[in-house]
Amino acid sequence: MNHPRRITLALAACSALLAAGGALAQAAPAKLKVGLMLPYTGTFAALGTAIENGFRLHVAENGGKLAGREIEFVRVDDESDPAKASDNVNKLIKRDNVDVLVGTVHSGVAMAMAKVAKDTGTLLIVPNAGADAVTGPMCAPNIFRSSFSNWQPGYAMGEMVAKKGHKKVVTITWKYAAGDESVRGFKEGFEKSGGKVVKELSLPFPNVEFQALLTEIAASKPDAVYTFFAGGGAVKFVKDYAAAGLKKHIPLYGAGFLTDGTLEAQGLDADGLLTTLHYADSLDNPRDKAFRLAYAKTYKLQPDVYAVQGYDAAQMLGVGLAAVKGDIGKKAEFAEALRRARIDSPRGAFTLSKSHNPVQDIYLRQVTGKENKVVGVASKALPDPGRGCRI
Ligand code: BEZ
Repeated sequence: MNHPRRITLALAACSALLAAGGALAQAAPAKLKVGLMLPYTGTFAALGTAIENGFRLHVAENGGKLAGREIEFVRVDDESDPAKASDNVNKLIKRDNVDVLVGTVHSGVAMAMAKVAKDTGTLLIVPNAGADAVTGPMCAPNIFRSSFSNWQPGYAMGEMVAKKGHKKVVTITWKYAAGDESVRGFKEGFEKSGGKVVKELSLPFPNVEFQALLTEIAASKPDAVYTFFAGGGAVKFVKDYAAAGLKKHIPLYGAGFLTDGTLEAQGLDADGLLTTLHYADSLDNPRDKAFRLAYAKTYKLQPDVYAVQGYDAAQMLGVGLAAVKGDIGKKAEFAEALRRARIDSPRGAFTLSKSHNPVQDIYLRQVTGKENKVVGVASKALPDPGRGCRI
């Protein structure tokens, strides 16, 4: 081969190498750090794990990436303790430099997260906690929820219990934002339809000494009881309600957390209970069937509402990231994409309200064996009122 031809070939090889190098550099953008702030201990431990499982499942289905960016996780156990919440979230942002916050389960902890997210502009996706304020007065362009507001299942059940002809109801819950707001939603739906909440009972979170309150319910002789409990507390409440002999005489209704992810432990004591929620075990849609199959295969467990909310939090992050081609700094475009999105959830597709809360069907479910079976839709495409939100 003559000299100039060798040079030409060498130059061609160099530019091919350079081009390949450039392509490689482009193909591997920095990892996206997701800060999972969830309860891994305490009464909500199983809920935190299910959310993480759901989130990871969606990421795994996309080869470990969202919008081309590899996902790296940093985990914090928030212990469902509002007193530790600001420190925990600040550590994730300042020490661990997370790009996105995903959390949490407990409404009090979520409100502390929302405050820090709003002050720092960090993207926050709430995969459970229903604190009305998060998509109410605390709403912000960078805060989204993949779950529900406490008002939503409560309000739907209020209307439903009134339709069943009950007039006099006693409520019982934990005394914190989620319990208070669930009861407030119930009361709004029930009383506008002609019912009356005659007594509101509560105990501090996460106490489970229900006996004195159950005695008070028996003495009040209401037509029905409405309740908000979740996780380990819900298991104990359902069992204690039955053991006190109340289940046979005073119908118990609840926000669906009462019987979601808890049926193995509640056994026959939960059988027949009616609850309202944005998910159920017997939804007959292909999206849910595929999700349930993949979840069961991956984790050797049946999914619950918390797993769905985690999965959808990851879907929402994926939708926003895709719109900004992985550049999470483009906050306005990210938010706009989510505001326009239709999230293809196992619960049924949903959109987001102006305050960034899911607009979704609330199902009426009945416990049958080990399943929360759909009885019907209690409220179609129910938006949270988003009271006090100005975005
Ligand atoms: C809450 O604190 O918002 C909550 C906790 C568990 C289940 C549902 C809501």
